Amino acid sequence: MCGIVGAVAKRNIVSILVNGLLRLEYRGYDSAGLVVVHDGKLDRVRSIGRVAELATKSANTYGELGIAHTRWATHGVPSERNAHPHISRDLIAVVHNGIIENYEELRTDLTEQGYEFTSDTDTEVIAHLIHSHYAQGSLLVATQMALSRLIGAYAIGVVAADNPHQLIAARKGSPLLLGVGEGEHFIASDMSALLQVTKNVVYLEEGDVVEVNLANYRIFDTQGISIQRPVNVSQLNNDSVELGEYQHYMQKEIHEQPQALADTLESVCNSQTMVPGIFGAEATAIFPQIDSILILACGTSHHAGMVARYWLEEIAGIQCTVEIASEYRYRASVANPNTLVVTISQSGETADTLAALNHAKVTGHLFTLAICNVPESAIIRQSKLRFLTRAGPEIGVASTKAFTTQLAALFLLTLVLAKLRGRIDPEREQQFLHELRHLPSAVKKVLALEPQIAELSRNFADKQHALFLGRGLHYPIALEGALKLKEISYIHAEAYPAGELKHGPLALVDKDMPVVSVAPNDMLLEKLKSNLQEVRARGGELYVFADANTHIKEAEGVHILQMPEHAGFLSPILHTIPLQLLAYYVALQKGTDVDKPRNLAKSVTVE
Ligand code: AGP
Repeated sequence: MCGIVGAVAKRNIVSILVNGLLRLEYRGYDSAGLVVVHDGKLDRVRSIGRVAELATKSANTYGELGIAHTRWATHGVPSERNAHPHISRDLIAVVHNGIIENYEELRTDLTEQGYEFTSDTDTEVIAHLIHSHYAQGSLLVATQMALSRLIGAYAIGVVAADNPHQLIAARKGSPLLLGVGEGEHFIASDMSALLQVTKNVVYLEEGDVVEVNLANYRIFDTQGISIQRPVNVSQLNNDSVELGEYQHYMQKEIHEQPQALADTLESVCNSQTMVPGIFGAEATAIFPQIDSILILACGTSHHAGMVARYWLEEIAGIQCTVEIASEYRYRASVANPNTLVVTISQSGETADTLAALNHAKVTGHLFTLAICNVPESAIIRQSKLRFLTRAGPEIGVASTKAFTTQLAALFLLTLVLAKLRGRIDPEREQQFLHELRHLPSAVKKVLALEPQIAELSRNFADKQHALFLGRGLHYPIALEGALKLKEISYIHAEAYPAGELKHGPLALVDKDMPVVSVAPNDMLLEKLKSNLQEVRARGGELYVFADANTHIKEAEGVHILQMPEHAGFLSPILHTIPLQLLAYYVALQKGTDVDKPRNLAKSVTVE
């Protein structure tokens, strides 16, 4: 989604801005732009499409102060005129992530004051508002005054044509950080954009406004009081993420799952026992106090939470609810102070998940745990307890290795709680540890099915719709399979618990409706088989991902993809793999942009 980079230095900063934007590209965007201050003027370059084009267009641009942006359209279509930075009367330039909710009212006010709007964006009101206050004070004061009128979420960078060595930045509801260099400073919405220039970072807090100069910076809190924030040394590394032998990041990331799982489980698999401390030092004191779990997440991460609910209730005997973060954040819910609130997020920056976490805290929840793949993300920083999945950078918009490592982390949480609650004895603990150690190699075996899945995918290329079925622990896996297919192949796909078929969706089944079923060899297998008969009887084409010994036979209209033996509680992780591969190969057939599907962004940092 939108990305911000800004710099003030004693050298040309255009390549810093462009390289920073390139590092943010994977998040998804539709246009890009930058502005530099040079010779008392604002020099702006914008382009629709890739940052590479912006790089070409700005090759001869020079400036020692500037801000840059990748835009993911919210207000106004993707176009050059809507791309940031937005400029007010050749004096003030602004880049903005987030959404200004009262922009229509502000736009009317500013139009009455004589400001002309050249875009359809909500951001342009910020530029004009700052301009309207600039005559009365400094850029800092003008920005603070403008911010006091905004309702909504923002991370902004601001420069003025007549102020060649200063930029102002602010955040509320959207992430922003300050990079500290030697005699130069930077801002960015994500640390990865700044690793090219510094590892020293100040994470701005909610409501912070910062005045950034060449040699120093000053941070002001929501009350306008000057405050100190710690300078951290980022642990991220700047290694470029290479595609290697793969055609797409998604394919690479699917294949990285054995290693990602091994890395995520490393500390546990190398020890003889599981302890709460793997979720943070305070977990030892907190876990014995909790009597229920509330999981908050979006999209694929929400599906991971849905699987965890089955594990937590069955293995650990602890009550668990799972809610979509964007719903929970606006619900007047009743907090139980003994609930552990678990947020799950690959990026750790998802606006709804972050807001849900804060809502939970405000409602009265005391115990928070983040399961996240990005060490220095907002969700990690704002939670009491944390577990870092070690999937490595996930570039493809479709989440794959992040999902299976989230499941691994949630399984560990289940086991730790189960142990604490006396639900598993040492023998069972050892058995689970053994299964976890074996998990990466089990995933490798499933990956070996790739050629067969590629072949199967041909049957989907001309389809408009698909149904996914699963039961119990595997219903969320059916949901995840459908989400993968729809997001990268644009085939309309829905998932149902197989038992729900005859309550409605069966009406959709005919010869043109492929029905994909997750068929583990578990206690619901016979029930599932009956559901599959119902599909076959209506002419539906079945694609069954069946464990060994399920005795579901290949027949006309029934395609079987033979999975290994049933993997017990870890089975959902194994059954995810073929569905990821299916979506990938169907997308290849359809010729879509697999890693950057239309309309989607990797990090959803606005509502
Ligand atoms: C997954 O394939 C999606 N791109 C999306 O649903 C994603 O999982 C969701 O936006 C949540 O992101 P997060 O895990 O970074 O919070």
